[in-house]
Amino acid sequence: MADEAGHPAAPDATGRRAVLQLDNVTKTYFLEGVQVDALCGVSVVVHEGEMVSITGPSGSGKSTLMHIIGLLDRPTEGRVYVEGEDVSDMTPNELSTVRNKRIGFVFQAFNLLSRTSAQANVELPLVYAGVTGGARSTRAREALERVGLGDRLRNTPNQLSGGQQQRVAIARALVNSPSIVLADEPTGNLDSRSGVEVMAILQDLHSEGNTIVLVTHDPKVARHAERIVEISDGRIVSDTRVDDRLIAGREIQELDEAPAIATSREAEGADGNDGDAS
Ligand SMILES: Nc1ncnc2c1ncn2[C@@H]1O[C@H](COP(=O)(O)OP(=O)(O)OP(=O)(O)O)[C@@H](O)[C@H]1O
Ligand SMILES: [Mg+2]
Repeated sequence: MADEAGHPAAPDATGRRAVLQLDNVTKTYFLEGVQVDALCGVSVVVHEGEMVSITGPSGSGKSTLMHIIGLLDRPTEGRVYVEGEDVSDMTPNELSTVRNKRIGFVFQAFNLLSRTSAQANVELPLVYAGVTGGARSTRAREALERVGLGDRLRNTPNQLSGGQQQRVAIARALVNSPSIVLADEPTGNLDSRSGVEVMAILQDLHSEGNTIVLVTHDPKVARHAERIVEISDGRIVSDTRVDDRLIAGREIQELDEAPAIATSREAEGADGNDGDAS
C-alpha cells in the first residue's frame, strides 16, 4: 500500500480524497548527449471532483507532465500516486491496468480509429476491460448520448465535424467511468464555437463530480477550470483559484444571440437594396 512506500496526501479541507499526487517529480531526457530537464521537481495534488488547468508556454513541460499523470511515461525521479496508491514501481502491465480502469484521455488530435464507427470507437476501452456483448454496446451508446451524439452512432470520424469527433473522444474517455479525465489541448484543433462546446461538456462532467485535468496554452480555455497550475521551464510557478471562471454554457448562449443580431441587420440591408438587386 501507498502508506508504507511513501506519503499519500490527506483529504482536503472538505474531505475530498486525493485522486492524483506527484511528489517531487523530475523528468530528464537525453537527446544526442544533450540533457533536457523537462520537469524539475514538480509536486502537486489533485482532489476528487476538482477541475484543474495546467498551463504554460510551449516547451514548458505540460505534455511531459500529462504523460506522467496519465501513466504513459515514468518520472526520472519522484513518486506518483493514483487514488492513494503508489504506482511508481509498477510493471508496464500493472500500469496499463490502472490506466485503463482509472484514467480517461482526450487528445488534441482526437486519436480515433478512422474506419470505425463512433459507437465502436467508444466501445474500445470496454473491449480492453473485458466488457462484452449487450453491456458494452449499451454503455458506449449512453456515453455518446451523454455528449449529444446519440444520433451519430454509426458515423465514422470522417463523417463527423471536428467538434463531434472530439465529443466522440470524450465519450470514449468516459465510458469506463474513470477517476480522472485528462485532456491535452482538447480545443487545439477546433474552431472557437466547437471549442466552447467541448469546454461545456467538460464543465458538465465536472459539475457531475468528475475530476478533470486539462492542459492548455490558451489562458481563456484555462479559465474554464476552478484552479490553474502554471508551469514554466519544468517548474510550477503558480497554483491559483480562478475567481472569474468562464462558463461555457453562457458563452454558447452569447454566440447564439450574436448571429441573430447580424442576420437581422443583413435583412434590413437587403430590404434597402431591393431595387439594386433586381
Ligand atoms: N522525447 C523527448 N526527448 C527529448 N526531449 C524532449 C522529449 N519530449 C519533450 N522534450 C523536451 O522537453 C521539454 C518539454 O516538452 P513538452 O512537450 O512537455 O512541452 P509542452 O509544454 O507540452 O509544449 P507545447 O505547448 O509546445 O506542447 C521541451 O524542451 C522538449 O523539447
Ligand atoms: Mg504539449
